Amino acid sequence: MIYSRIAGTGRYLPDRILTNADLEKIVDTSDEWIISRTGIEQRHAANEDEFTSDLCVNAARNAMESAAVSPSDIDMLFVGTTTPDLIFPNIATIIQHKLGIPALPCYAIEAACSGFVYALSSADKFIRCGEAKKILVIGAEIITRLVDWEDRNTCVLFGDGAGAVILEASSNPGVLSTHLGADGQYQKLLYYPVGASTNLAAAGTADASIMMSGNDVFKVAVRTLSEVAKEALNTNKLSLEDLDWFIPHQANLRIIQAAAKKLNMPMEKVIQTVQIHGNTSAASIPMAFDVGVRDGRIKRGQLVLFDAFGGGFTWGAVLLRY
Ligand code: ACO
Repeated sequence: MIYSRIAGTGRYLPDRILTNADLEKIVDTSDEWIISRTGIEQRHAANEDEFTSDLCVNAARNAMESAAVSPSDIDMLFVGTTTPDLIFPNIATIIQHKLGIPALPCYAIEAACSGFVYALSSADKFIRCGEAKKILVIGAEIITRLVDWEDRNTCVLFGDGAGAVILEASSNPGVLSTHLGADGQYQKLLYYPVGASTNLAAAGTADASIMMSGNDVFKVAVRTLSEVAKEALNTNKLSLEDLDWFIPHQANLRIIQAAAKKLNMPMEKVIQTVQIHGNTSAASIPMAFDVGVRDGRIKRGQLVLFDAFGGGFTWGAVLLRY
């Protein structure tokens, strides 16, 4: 039986940091309001000459180094992102070229904040069926480019970054199970109103910015995160007590706390990075995982649950033994 396991992790955050004090100079807000409603203290924002693929390349190099693999060892590439460099070619091909990885299948997956979990789940299947042995899986976002910096309702929430893992074939699990879902009826609660075939002329105008019904998103996010987490544990006949680490999408601290409470999960088991990263969409889970691995909290053999939720709505969980 072939399983997949995570052999190495990496992350990259742009140098430029925007604190809440910086945002107080841009919109009518306060450090106190942002922290009490979201937990966010700062976020990173890419410079104008940085593209999402640049963030990915740095995170990927970091992950390859930690897994002791070179570009020629990689035989597939998956990238979850909502903010690719271009409409085409797909961002995974751009990253492949920048990293000097030989010709291989390159997938870009767009599932908003669930993008990394969708990508990881897909990569797991390719390894299990024997089509690939080492896959580079990335979640990345320059979501600050989609934000209206005059809209205090949304601009305080988001940040940029990239997280990456090397997933490799193994005779021991690894990834125990993956659980994905989506429901397009919620499109209008969280969306970006410009695309290649819709409203393209509005790109770059004030009409092009993230649309969000914050309160409604909050409720569905909490319910869905807890449901899919339970589904993952039940499938494997495991309980919350068996779990070492819970890594939910880092949208905001109140959503994380509410989901943990619904699950009876002590906050000591929750990796939290939203305070320093903001909501980095598809990058949030792999970056939080890398933080926990590199600071020594997440150890080999421990049981870890990734739990994602994003626009669409999309959602997903991955239960794995690190
Ligand atoms: N600073 C100061 N005041 C603000 C700000 C701000 N940055 N933003 C909104 N306000 C004001 C509003 O205008 C409103 O004022 P009013 O009462 O005079 O009209 C007041 O604060 C309360 O607004 P609410 O929207 O009710 O505030 P709430 O407590 O619900 O918090 C928030 C808003 C943080 C967006 C919350 O709804 C939330 O966390 N939603 C989840 C959405 C989320 O995290 N989205 C991220 C993307 S989704 C994802 O990643 C899956």
